[in-house]
Amino acid sequence: MYTMDELKKYCLKCHKCRLASTRTNVVFGEGNEHADIMFVGEGPGYYEDIQGRPFVGRAGQLLDKMIKAIHLKRSDVYIANVVKCRPPENRNPLDDECQACLDFLRWQVKLINPKIIVCLGAVSSKKLIDENFKISLQRGQFVRKGNFYFMPTYHPSYLLRNQASKKEAWEDFKKVSEMLTTL
Ligand code: URA
Repeated sequence: MYTMDELKKYCLKCHKCRLASTRTNVVFGEGNEHADIMFVGEGPGYYEDIQGRPFVGRAGQLLDKMIKAIHLKRSDVYIANVVKCRPPENRNPLDDECQACLDFLRWQVKLINPKIIVCLGAVSSKKLIDENFKISLQRGQFVRKGNFYFMPTYHPSYLLRNQASKKEAWEDFKKVSEMLTTL
């Protein structure tokens, strides 16, 4: 068993996939290591790559607002991504890149042991819940796997482009907040 610090040290030196050669910084993830809720995005974008922190760009500002709306602070939760290095031009991470990286996320989940994992967008939902997951059809319902409840919802970047879907995402966040009171 690793500690989070050991895992991070190992992750920061990782060269298991091609994304290592184009990254500025590894974006390991951050937040409360005893969090009840973990948010998992897809992979770092431009600002995340520059700063080495998850969700600090426009999508991150929206995520912060949504976290506040359920009466939590960013420092209450843990935020991570499926891949820890930015895919060039913000393309979706390729399958082999996700596979190379997923052990880091598995360890993070094991160490944090959250009650609820919110999957932000299609990539996260597919990699954590089910490879055939269809976010547009299946979001908004808890999926129980092992000890964890997964809530698949829209990615905040999608919500920035599709304002009309914010209402549904808000419903999903409310479900997360309500579920937390019962666990
Ligand atoms: N989008 C993601 O999926 N993750 C981030 O950290 C930032 C934007």
